[in-house]
Amino acid sequence: MLLTTTQAAGRIMVALDYPDASGAEKLLQQLEGIPCYVKVGMQLFYAGGPSFIDSLKTRGYKVFLDVKMHDIPNTVKGGANSVTKLGVDMFNVHAAGGTAMMEAALEGVYAAVGSTASRPVVIAVTQLTSTSKAMLNEQIGIAGSVEEAVIRYAQLTKQAGLDGVVASPVEVEAIKAACGTAFQTITPGIRPAGADVNDQTRIMTPREALDRGTDYMVIGRPITAAPEPRAAIESIIEELTIG
Ligand code: C5P
Repeated sequence: MLLTTTQAAGRIMVALDYPDASGAEKLLQQLEGIPCYVKVGMQLFYAGGPSFIDSLKTRGYKVFLDVKMHDIPNTVKGGANSVTKLGVDMFNVHAAGGTAMMEAALEGVYAAVGSTASRPVVIAVTQLTSTSKAMLNEQIGIAGSVEEAVIRYAQLTKQAGLDGVVASPVEVEAIKAACGTAFQTITPGIRPAGADVNDQTRIMTPREALDRGTDYMVIGRPITAAPEPRAAIESIIEELTIG
């Protein structure tokens, strides 16, 4: 697949893993004008709050709010309603909360936007990449492999009417086979050739991930910790635009 520069930038979600808004701002200044998606996780959101989200939206960024909601359905419905009102473009819940909880998240979204308006994309976390098979079997009490659990949770997410899942790029093809190509996959664990692997396992280059069918790739340290973040993202964009 060949992407234009703008399309490629829009497939990249820069993980703003900073303790507060001022750290994130320094990076955003360096990336100014690049139409990438940005991902705000719980550390930054708890510190920067709705006003930081608002400032991102004012600057035209698409925002993925990665707060992984997991609670009783009524509470998740309320949480989903609040984050939809903030204007985020995507947020997530845990599939382990079950279909009633995931459906409640969508109800909260629709209560905020009305059924005809465009709504945020709602995705689910299947298994955290920090979960090993031993943890899954012995602590969480789910039998089988991590991959089997991921596919089952992805199917549950689809049944609940959500739009996709966060997954390893290695799992994208199996998820698309089980849930259809329109079911979105958002993949961390992306490392350009030669980049530091850090604590990620089962990594892929941006190009490989795109070729496997990933819809959005979450990239943090290869951009945020690069000596020149702008050059780092531009080189990833180039990798995605050249066939
Ligand atoms: O720096 P790096 O590219 O490893 O950042 C990946 C981002 O994706 C981080 O924000 C991390 O929390 C997030 N993430 C992940 N694995 C998951 C879910 C989210 O690495 N399974």
